[in-house]
Amino acid sequence: MNLIDGKAIAQRINEETRAAIAELKSRGITPGLAVVVVGDDPASHAYVKSKEKTSLDLGMHSVKRDMPATTTQEELLAVVRALNADPAVHGILVQSPPPKHIDERAVVDAIDPRKDVDGFHPINVAKVAMGDASAFVPCTPLGCQRLLIESGIETSGANVVVLGRSMIVGKPMAFLLMNKGRGGDATVTVAHSRTRNLAEVCRGADILIAAIGQPEFVKADMVKEGAVVIDVGINRVADPTSAKGSKLVGDVAFAEVAPKCRAITPVPGGVGPMTIAMLMHNTVLAARRIGISPK
Ligand code: GUN
Repeated sequence: MNLIDGKAIAQRINEETRAAIAELKSRGITPGLAVVVVGDDPASHAYVKSKEKTSLDLGMHSVKRDMPATTTQEELLAVVRALNADPAVHGILVQSPPPKHIDERAVVDAIDPRKDVDGFHPINVAKVAMGDASAFVPCTPLGCQRLLIESGIETSGANVVVLGRSMIVGKPMAFLLMNKGRGGDATVTVAHSRTRNLAEVCRGADILIAAIGQPEFVKADMVKEGAVVIDVGINRVADPTSAKGSKLVGDVAFAEVAPKCRAITPVPGGVGPMTIAMLMHNTVLAARRIGISPK
């Protein structure tokens, strides 16, 4: 079994991004990323903090809008519109999920698609589906694809099962893998909670991408001997043996699945760091396309 070191791969990519940012800065363009978080969800705050920290560390201009849970739809839209109009901001991200009273779809629709570094705007969703190279691709599936490429895992002709059908991971992941080209050309099955004979379907996978959002859902009997497993899950579960009283686990029961795998990603230290690296990468792309900023 080969452990795919997402942290190390992400660090390498971040160094390339750091160099790209320095080069843009020498031409008077400082890539700017704005991250908006609404409400008090601790996991969302943790993610936003590491996005802000990485962007600053790589030399970007960073804007964080931390808004209370009582924020209205109109207030949030006003912030998005102001960021659309801000020439120092090239990438805008509104952390998901927002509080229940917010219409997330309308917020995403309001983001300028040229600044949509999350790849959630319908224009970018359509471009990903069409295999258009100018798309902003959602960071988590882009990171998973890059992990496969960097680890020398061939996707062409492979049977890939994507477990989960979310707009953030499952659906765009399926498009990336079935599109033509490097990291694509796979035969893709999208499975989910309603899939009949789920274990059997998963056992058909040469590459299994677990993004179902349930702790340790994928058991050993769902994985073929010699399969590659990419674990997208980040679930906090109770752990009385740890000082914190909790720990992070993926969507895969790692201890029982890992011995069967040709390669597998750990949680933490697998997909998570790649998501952030791809966000930084997308923001550099946005800055290159939009061009000159005054800062
Ligand atoms: N919540 C979980 N993953 C993501 C992501 O990639 N982007 C945003 N905006 N919210 C998320």
